[in-house]
Amino acid sequence: MSFPKGFFWGGATAANQYEGGYIDGGKGIALNDVVTGGDGLNRIPRKLIIDYNGQEQELEAFSEVPKGAKVKIKEGIYYPSHKATDFYHHWKEDIHLFAEMGFNMFRMSINWTRIFPNGDDETPNMEGLKFYEEIFKECKSLGIEPLVTICHFDLPIKFANEGNGWADRKVVDAYEKYAITVFEYYKDLVTYWLTINEINMNKVFMISGVHDNQSDQQAYEQGIYHTFIGSAKAVIAGHKINPNFKIGLMIAQQGFYPYTCNPEDVMACIDKEREVCWFYGDVQCRGYYPSYKIKELERKGVVLEKLPGDDEILKEGVVDFYSHSYYHSFTAAAVIDGKKVTDGNQMTGLDNPYLKASDWGWTIDPVGLRIQLNKIWDRYQLPIMIVENGLGAKDVLEEDGSIHDDYRINFMRDHIVQMKKAIELDGVDLIAYTPWGCIDLVSAGTGEMEKRYGMIYVDMDNDGNGTLNRYKKDSFYWYKKVAESNGEDLD
Ligand code: BG6
Repeated sequence: MSFPKGFFWGGATAANQYEGGYIDGGKGIALNDVVTGGDGLNRIPRKLIIDYNGQEQELEAFSEVPKGAKVKIKEGIYYPSHKATDFYHHWKEDIHLFAEMGFNMFRMSINWTRIFPNGDDETPNMEGLKFYEEIFKECKSLGIEPLVTICHFDLPIKFANEGNGWADRKVVDAYEKYAITVFEYYKDLVTYWLTINEINMNKVFMISGVHDNQSDQQAYEQGIYHTFIGSAKAVIAGHKINPNFKIGLMIAQQGFYPYTCNPEDVMACIDKEREVCWFYGDVQCRGYYPSYKIKELERKGVVLEKLPGDDEILKEGVVDFYSHSYYHSFTAAAVIDGKKVTDGNQMTGLDNPYLKASDWGWTIDPVGLRIQLNKIWDRYQLPIMIVENGLGAKDVLEEDGSIHDDYRINFMRDHIVQMKKAIELDGVDLIAYTPWGCIDLVSAGTGEMEKRYGMIYVDMDNDGNGTLNRYKKDSFYWYKKVAESNGEDLD
């Protein structure tokens, strides 16, 4: 059993959780810069501070934000993205550690507001462009292929405070201009791109900037539609700028099983997977809205506002490959009442009694990864990248600087075994594995440091205290063997 030659072994990060330097080098403020820290195990949610109707209010970060509210940064409060784990000042050291770990791919994101501080400035911020240029050059010199997410949860705040986020068409124009700018500037340094991270999670205000995003279905659906148009326009422009570019979508692969074999539960499961995942894949891989979504919009009375030529844009702007995160799975039932609910990536779902879970309640389901890979491959026949996977866990830094994270090694090994099976037994065209938070960074869901995914430990606590020194975990040495043996040595 072996992975194909040239398989990409790497790791994944995102600027809003890793980079820090939130106003350095001319950077502007993005939505994630106004989200406070939280504590997942003690159920303290991340918060937003808003001015609304002349009053200051605190809201849970994943709740609705009323139209007209303005989110802001308040003095004296700790905002994790501001320093994050300081890639801004440690990038060279970190990239060398990645090279030592055997990476031939490194997933990172460009911070939109480092290039266009307000999102829609006339000209780009050269300091920001140069910052990433140095990073990409360093990667290339070490044999690491950058995999670059153009937008990972960092919508410029202006679009949320002065408008309605992605529900406004002008955000599409700004995103297209930003994408073209980075495509042109890095056309000889970057080949692999992802347009919008977890585009299926864009319903959350702090990602999409769409106010009243659940109760106002018109704005909510319009916002999603605009992310598709933005992504498709980027694909079209990117292919013109460099025909060798490979541009992919990125979906949070939330796999579901029927809660029971009752046909009603099976149908509920189909509905759920369409709602959460396939709708987003279908549009970006096939180039049009699927029939089940058109029917749903009709039922809801939502009429999407389209510009002439949009249908052609969606068709032409289909992606070159499918990328996704995979952490856990859920179950789906026709009747939800009374059933146990479990936590997960940006959403909750029904629990599965056959699976164990992490300390944060996310189920652990390696076979589910093989199932999802097969479903994606059967549906689209496009190359697939797993661009996030991993176990969020507490680590202990020993006196001698070691970290014994056998739980993380076991988690990754079990998932890699299923990837092998998907390639060897099912013929899935899997081309990359970049586990999440290869170096410790801030959790997106809970805003804490304690939930660590990395194979490199960063000395920092939930309140931002620590030396920021880097330490190699046991998983560092293990993953190095995996990468260097192209997935053969998993011991
Ligand atoms: C995905 C995101 O949602 O999952 C990452 O793309 C995120 O940004 C990751 O960090 C893990 O989630 P969490 O909430 O454990 O950080």
